[in-house]
Amino acid sequence: VDHVIIMAGGAGKRLWPASNNSKPKQFMTVQGKDSLFLSTIKRAASLGIPGKILVVTHQDHIKAALEDSQKLPLEIRQKIVLLAEPQARNTGPALAYAGAWLKESTGNKDASVLVLAADHLIQDLRQFAKDVENASLLAGLDKLVVYGIRPDFPSTGYGYIEAGEETAPGFKVLSFKEKPDQSTAEEFLKAGNYLWNSGMFTYKLSFFEKELLAGSPKMMEPFLPVLNCPATKIENDITVVMPDEALSRLYAALPRESVDYALMEKSSHIAMIRSGFDWNDVGSWDVIADLNPPTEVPVFTSGDDSNFVYSDIPVALCGVQDLIVVIKNGKALVCRKGESQLVKDAAESLPF
Ligand code: GDD
Ligand code: MG
Repeated sequence: VDHVIIMAGGAGKRLWPASNNSKPKQFMTVQGKDSLFLSTIKRAASLGIPGKILVVTHQDHIKAALEDSQKLPLEIRQKIVLLAEPQARNTGPALAYAGAWLKESTGNKDASVLVLAADHLIQDLRQFAKDVENASLLAGLDKLVVYGIRPDFPSTGYGYIEAGEETAPGFKVLSFKEKPDQSTAEEFLKAGNYLWNSGMFTYKLSFFEKELLAGSPKMMEPFLPVLNCPATKIENDITVVMPDEALSRLYAALPRESVDYALMEKSSHIAMIRSGFDWNDVGSWDVIADLNPPTEVPVFTSGDDSNFVYSDIPVALCGVQDLIVVIKNGKALVCRKGESQLVKDAAESLPF
């Protein structure tokens, strides 16, 4: 691939209260020393691509992204472009803008890109690079390429890819269903030929534009025939593109929809690579509790160690089990393990 686009503008409400408006979950550290954002940049850089590492995110997150990026070596920083959105309208508009910006600023509409989410953990970078290379072969044949993950439970939080016959190095895709309900997810698992969508994509910019124009014209048309790119500036070797008034007006009219609904569910030109690398979506406190990162403060628990604590201050748990306790940013969360999908509701009714 020529460029990497990193989608890093989500709110991460399910990880309240560690995730908040100015520092959402992508800037949290859950494993090792790097934030999820930094490890995503390093994953992109490990591919040794010739082009840009384009981070598309909300303008309020630019400060956190710049701060975090200072920890990177110069040759990586010089590849980074922080493309700021005036408002969050989900991943469909973010990718339409990112694609249009790359096309205008590089003059190459046929470049191929790898799209990454900023909330994943992947360890095996060698296998990852191989799979990306295979995906770009298929992208060259005018396919929108998704990366399938073998599902291990009927999750309702992921997209599902119905795999058809093999066309090396990947598979045909018969259908794509984003976030099915529980019984549909159970059927998919029983059927056996459904994989989880990893949330990463590979495609040629010109083909993405064509397919999004067909599937969700209101999302793509405003960027055509040309995008008047807002001014760029350089801060500590990193290119920053803040929104201008014209972009804000354009954005306000875009449909709020993820790329999964706006494009992947609609296109009949999807191909799948079965990913050979390990993959973890850091989507909820239950996932983080399973990863069990070390606590940085003293924690006392009586009895067993079935509780999970993520806190700024010392915590004592007496006579309770299977709890997730998070104390961050002056706020506290106490949640039974297995119930952490409810945290989003809490984040929406309390200060975020
Ligand atoms: N720039 C930008 N703007 N980025 C965004 C926005 C936005 O408005 N909204 C979300 N993102 C970023 C998030 O920060 C994250 O890195 C990525 O886009 C995916 O968004 P999520 O909100 O985490 O999506 P999801 O996890 O519910 O679903 C997606 O990923 C699953 C796997 O993790 C889908 O692609 C599913 O099909 C997939 O299974
Ligand atoms: Mg996610």
